[in-house]
Amino acid sequence: MRMVSFLPALLAAGALGAQGAPVKTVDDLRAFFAQNCVKCHGADGSALGPEGKKLGGRDFTDAKRMAADQDADLVKAIRKGLFFGMVMPSFKGQLSEEEAGLLVREVLRKAEKGKAIVPVGGAAR
Ligand code: HEC
Repeated sequence: MRMVSFLPALLAAGALGAQGAPVKTVDDLRAFFAQNCVKCHGADGSALGPEGKKLGGRDFTDAKRMAADQDADLVKAIRKGLFFGMVMPSFKGQLSEEEAGLLVREVLRKAEKGKAIVPVGGAAR
């Protein structure tokens, strides 16, 4: 039947979508942060530039402020962006729901003031 032959194609398409794509590792996500978030959230996630200038993004090292938000809300902000992408761009095309969740839990929530968020895997020093 026609319907039946469509099924494998649909399943294959689903497997190639963002949800089924190979999940980025925590190190990949640290690199992703360093490339995509630093200009607004700072190298260490504190929302401060190298000269101590406020950048405008959220300070992820502010534990009290971070505790007030659920992971799901932060994931949503990363995937959808803020204020139609005008305040913060959407990263839906680059990060699956799972990857954004891992980024929130393992990178943003572990950000420490003065400690740059960079991949640690290959770093010798
Ligand atoms: C163009 C600047 C810009 C870039 C790039 C950017 N952000 Fe943001 N982000 C902001 C601003 C501005 C806010 C809102 C700050 C506030 O209201 O406290 C924000 C808020 C957030 C929040 C909190 C959302 C909420 O519900 O309050 C998260 C989580 C976040 N950003 C993650 C990221 C991540 C992860 C990246 C990189 C993948 C990123 N941002 C890149 C500007 C940016």
